[in-house]
Amino acid sequence: MKKMGILVFVVILVSFVAAYAQENEPLTFKDFIEGKEAFEENCIECHSLEWPLAKITDRAGWEETLTKMANTGAVLSKKNRRQVLEYLVAKSTFQTKCSVCHGLERPLEKNKEFQEWVTTVRRMAAKKPEHLTEEEIQAVSGFLTAKGEETAL
Ligand code: HEC
Ligand code: HEC
Repeated sequence: MKKMGILVFVVILVSFVAAYAQENEPLTFKDFIEGKEAFEENCIECHSLEWPLAKITDRAGWEETLTKMANTGAVLSKKNRRQVLEYLVAKSTFQTKCSVCHGLERPLEKNKEFQEWVTTVRRMAAKKPEHLTEEEIQAVSGFLTAKGEETAL
């Protein structure tokens, strides 16, 4: 019995550690692709995607919206929630920060691989020092890699 107790304790501990590691794993551009997929699949159940696509807010604002949607009945796995959150935060960063010198259609018209986007976004960031943090450069590049032609911003 005692052995069993220890085993159960170890199993619980391991799953906590695994969950913690997953939540804190660094993001890759694949998270933005999966985030876009989860967004398009799950956020269209009760209304069109127009509201969230038009909404521009910061991380706290998106956290609040996702919590409100969850309370309304939207169901997302923990992993998908994080991915959708990051996708929507990156979308807002893109909408606000990439529209100050030219229209959004300039980047939206182009399709590039993730590394090519990082190069482009870094080049853009260099034109206006302190406009974008390194985290934002990565996130906007992930967002642009994930964007499909159907993303109507
Ligand atoms: C179970 C139904 C349901 C699902 C699923 C759902 N929503 Fe909503 N959403 C609503 C309702 C109802 C409203 C209007 C009432 C309100 O504003 O709370 C709304 C309004 C909104 C608004 C406009 C109001 C605001 O807070 O800015 C946004 C943005 C939004 N939803 C985003 C999302 C996103 C992102 C998802 C996917 C994670 C999602 N919704 C999934 C029911 C849902
Ligand atoms: C400080 C002004 C400025 C900001 C901010 C800016 N751009 Fe640009 N962008 C330019 C200028 C000027 C050009 C044309 C000359 C060039 O390509 O360098 C350009 C051209 C582009 C092009 C076409 C050239 C290519 O390499 O594909 C893309 C795509 C682009 N920008 C994307 C973006 C994105 C994405 C952001 C946001 C992260 C952004 N821009 C922010 C000034 C800016």
